[in-house]
Amino acid sequence: MGEMPPEPAQTTPSGRVRRAWNNHASGRPGRRADRTGVATWAGALDGRLEREPRGRWPAVERAVDPIESDRHGWQPADAAITRNRKPIEAGAHLSSNPQSLVPSLPTPVTPLHIAGTRGLWMKNDGASASPYGGNKIRKLAILLPDALNRGARRLLTVGAAGSHHALATALYGKRAGLEVSALLAPQLHTEHAERTFLAALGVGLEVLPLPSVASVADALRRVTRKGDYWIGPGAMGAMGAMGYTSAARELWHQVESGALPEPDRLVVAVGSGSTAAGLLVGLADTPLSTRVVGVQTAKNPTVRSVILAQACLAARREHLPIRLREWSQRLELRSDVVGAGYGVPCERGVRATQNAASAGLKLDPTYTAKAFAIALELGRTDTAPTLYWHTLSSAPLEPLLASAPKLEQLPARLRHLLRPNTLGDPPKSTGSE
Ligand SMILES: Cc1ncc(COP(=O)(O)O)c(C=O)c1O
Repeated sequence: MGEMPPEPAQTTPSGRVRRAWNNHASGRPGRRADRTGVATWAGALDGRLEREPRGRWPAVERAVDPIESDRHGWQPADAAITRNRKPIEAGAHLSSNPQSLVPSLPTPVTPLHIAGTRGLWMKNDGASASPYGGNKIRKLAILLPDALNRGARRLLTVGAAGSHHALATALYGKRAGLEVSALLAPQLHTEHAERTFLAALGVGLEVLPLPSVASVADALRRVTRKGDYWIGPGAMGAMGAMGYTSAARELWHQVESGALPEPDRLVVAVGSGSTAAGLLVGLADTPLSTRVVGVQTAKNPTVRSVILAQACLAARREHLPIRLREWSQRLELRSDVVGAGYGVPCERGVRATQNAASAGLKLDPTYTAKAFAIALELGRTDTAPTLYWHTLSSAPLEPLLASAPKLEQLPARLRHLLRPNTLGDPPKSTGSE
């Protein structure tokens, strides 16, 4: 296990960044308020975040963290954040309804035997819960008790039509006795997206269709009501990331107990970035020197800042040191499998899906196919152990689809959330690599 580089010298925020924060916080023109979380403040901080280890980060906090928003007195006239706040009961775990979500932890680690690869391992968060797993479980296991403890009546979230996060939130939120609504934006139709969307409807999600992602802020203003508990896209924010700080410690215990060798790097899909953020914070809190390869699934030039900002929020919440330089050095971002964009299958992903199938692993085209393509590449070219962190639920969807409507039965405003493929046929692969 190598030595990590020393922490950077602590500096105070530059005037430019401070002005960006202040403009954003005051809603002044020039920094258009982006209440859904990411674009504005990440743009302001991009590339400069590392130089601000000691500054206060009101804009970041407001954007991704409803509790911090509230603490700073940010009123939700134009944002959907939780009302009816009560003090957080530290360590509460679904006390109101213990049956609603019981994560199955630790998730297994297994070697992956795929032709042409060496030292490839998988941490299977697909098996994190039943009847639906994946990477949203560790996040919801923190967010749901918080919502219940605060007396929330409804979970309100946002995503694309085929969002795994919307499905998981609907399933476990409903089980916890909450209403669950999601603002969903259109995405390219794939069979996987359709099944996820229908399953979410089947478990009782109220879908609030958006004409496009750009209309989220306006829609939030319209639909937010008293008793809402806002969960950001992909459950991003401090609490979402915290779900993965503990996951990194879980990995450390598995390495320590000899279940797998210390991975040289782990490969994980990046959407909102909270999974990667939590892993960075958690890994830095263990003796592991494992690096994180974050595989981008959408074109987003600010993704590094988005991840690091969430890492800061999670670390602060967990009273851990802010190690921006170390986190940043551990984080390698790969944007070469984004292809035509979010939700659009790419050729390398299709090939990776076929290879994964040979090892009995099912992937989705949006996230895990792209991440696995990179894991395979590393498993082929590098002999050091590579850990692929599987983030897609491995539970069969059929039970959740049992009470779901058919796509053609839906009103047009919902049906149209899955856009026909106008880009031509999905890429085909001629066989395993
Ligand atoms: C299957 C899957 N993998 C990875 C991700 C990305 O995780 P994050 O949003 O924490 O970056 C998502 C996000 O929705 C997902 O559904």
